[in-house]
Amino acid sequence: MPNRTLLIAGNWKMNNDVAEAAKLADELAQALPEVPAGVEVLVCPPTIDITTVHDRIQAAPIALGAQNVYWEAKGAFTGESSCDMLKSAGCTYCIIGHSERRAMGETDADVNAKVLAALEAGLVPIMCCGETLEQREAGITDEWIAMQIKLGLNGVSEEKIRRVIIAYEPIWAIGTGRTATPDQAQEVCENIRAVVRKLYSSKNARAISILYGGSMNDKNAFELLAQPDIDGGLIGGASLVPEKFVEIINAANQPTA
Ligand code: 13P
Repeated sequence: MPNRTLLIAGNWKMNNDVAEAAKLADELAQALPEVPAGVEVLVCPPTIDITTVHDRIQAAPIALGAQNVYWEAKGAFTGESSCDMLKSAGCTYCIIGHSERRAMGETDADVNAKVLAALEAGLVPIMCCGETLEQREAGITDEWIAMQIKLGLNGVSEEKIRRVIIAYEPIWAIGTGRTATPDQAQEVCENIRAVVRKLYSSKNARAISILYGGSMNDKNAFELLAQPDIDGGLIGGASLVPEKFVEIINAANQPTA
């Protein structure tokens, strides 16, 4: 795949207090004085750790993202953070619509409002989608994912679609150690690209980045990242272990042919 930039993103989820986050960020900054050409590295710590991690990785080629965002700019929204607040703390990306948040009640309409707000503010949204095991076994994976994407991207303009990253995270593969096979992941990511092609254009479909997430680790990353429609990984557990995360970054850098 010539000229493909792969994004290797760590979603730390609700792990690491401030001291632990500082330690992990220091270890990553030390392990990654530079990243291979064609690879971008991102970490998404808990909100409470963002400022600390920002300070620690400032000199390293590691981008910073949030795990969630709110669509309003300011006001009486207890517990939420706006796009501009996250940007002021150093974030350039934000994960939106992770299945763990959807399980807490986040709807497709919420995801859509967040995607639009992030784009408006200049944050890169990483919009997550994924099916349950029941949906996969019922043979409705493609329809389900297409629906999540259409609803999540509602109102996203032709000009802005290229700044959206889509992460395919089958729910049955998250934190279970049960990874989608490279073929399974490729098949859905290819379908996601086809949905974007239909909604926008072939050019935009080719330009957009699609990540795979779900038990990606240092052992299986190479094969997953070698798939033509997989443009990177969204990594949970393995992103908390510097050696494993660095191995995944190295796997992204290997020639696939
Ligand atoms: P795991 O890598 O721990 O399965 O988590 C994946 C994920 O949900 C990343 O957002």
